Amino acid sequence: MRNYLLLILLVVFTPLQALTNDLDQSSLVERGEYLVYGPAACVRCHGSIEQMEAFENHGEKIPLGGGRTWHMYLGTFVAPNITSDRTQGIGGWSTKQLEETLRNDLGNDGKALIPMMEYHQMNDADLAAIIAWLKTSQPVTREINRSHWSWIGKIAQWFLTRSASTDIAQIPPIEPAPTAEYGRYLAEDVAQCGNCHTRRSQTTGRFEGARYAGGSHLQTTINPSLYVVPPNITPKGVHSVIRDWTLADFLQRFSEGLKLQGSHMPWGAFQHMNKRDVTAIWKYLQTVPSSDYNPGPPLQTQSD
Ligand code: HEC
Ligand code: HEC
Repeated sequence: MRNYLLLILLVVFTPLQALTNDLDQSSLVERGEYLVYGPAACVRCHGSIEQMEAFENHGEKIPLGGGRTWHMYLGTFVAPNITSDRTQGIGGWSTKQLEETLRNDLGNDGKALIPMMEYHQMNDADLAAIIAWLKTSQPVTREINRSHWSWIGKIAQWFLTRSASTDIAQIPPIEPAPTAEYGRYLAEDVAQCGNCHTRRSQTTGRFEGARYAGGSHLQTTINPSLYVVPPNITPKGVHSVIRDWTLADFLQRFSEGLKLQGSHMPWGAFQHMNKRDVTAIWKYLQTVPSSDYNPGPPLQTQSD
C-alpha cells in the first residue's frame, strides 16, 4: 500500500515540480532580459559596437558582443563580449564569478575592473535574473581587445584589488510597484539616473554636485569636441527640465526615444521600460530635494 502511495505521489508531483521549476527559470530569464535591455541598460555599453545605432535610435535588442571603448588617463577600457560564447564571452564563467563582477567589480582573474558598472546594490533577485539571462543569451563568437591599464592605472588597479571585497553582499528583493520606494531602487541601484545626473569629479569620479541637479560634461560619441550635459531633474529646481512636467509628460518623453544624437542617456533601453517602472521613477524624483543649480544647455563645447 505504502509503495503504491509513493508511486502515485511520484507520478503526480514530480512532473508538476519540474514544470514549476521550468516556469520559475523562464520567468527569471524573462526578468533578466527586461533588465538588460531596459532599466539596467547593460546594452548601452556592451551592445556590439557596430550595431549601436540600431539600439540607440530604435531600441533594438542587439547582441552584447562588446567593443565600445573609453580612453582615460587610467588606461583604455573596452566593454567585453558578454554573450554566452564559451571562448570569447562569459559562457565558461561560474555564477559566483559573475556575482563578484557585478557586486564587487572584480574580473575572473581576481583583479579589479575599472569601476564603471554601478550595480553593487542591485538586489539578489535581479542579480540572479540577469545572470540567468546572460547564461542563456545567444552566443556570439567575436574577439574583442581587452582593456589596457596605463602605468598609473596599474597602481590604481592594485589598490582597487586590495580593497575589493570578495564577499557577496546579500540584498533583499523589493516588490516591483509604481511607488516612490521602488522608483528609488530603480533610479539609484539599477538605471543609474542619479549617477549621470549628478556632477562628479573627472579625476576621482566622486560626486560633487547636488543629487539629480545636473551631471558632468560627457564627450559625445559622434563628435569629440561636443559634450552632452545631463540636465537638472530635481522636482522644482529653477533650472530643472521637469519642473513643469506632469507624470503624463514624463511617460510620453520615455516613449519617444533618442532625440539628441550622441547623447549618453540610454533612451533606446529606457524605451523598453514599462509604465509601472517609469511611474515609480517619476514618483521617486518628486521626493528628491530641489536644487537651483544650472548645468547649462544639453550640448556644450567645453569639457567642464
Ligand atoms: C557604463 C558602461 C557599462 C555598463 C552600463 C555595463 N558594463 Fe559591464 N563592463 C564595462 C566595461 C568597460 C568592462 C570592462 C572593465 C575592465 O576591463 O576593467 C565591463 C566588464 C563586464 C564583465 C566582465 C567580462 C569580462 O570578460 O571580463 C561582465 C560580466 C559585465 N561587464 C556585465 C555587465 C552587465 C550584466 C551589465 C548590466 C547589468 C553591465 N555589464 C553594464 C562597462 C559597462
Ligand atoms: C549615461 C548617462 C545617463 C543616464 C544613466 C541617465 N541619463 Fe537622463 N540624460 C542624460 C543626458 C546626457 C541628457 C541630455 C541629452 C538628452 O536629452 O538626451 C539626459 C536627459 C534627460 C531628461 C530630459 C529629456 C528632455 O527631453 O528634456 C530627463 C527627464 C532624464 N534625462 C531623466 C533620466 C532618468 C529618469 C534616468 C534614469 C531612468 C536617466 N535620465 C538616466 C544622461 C543620462
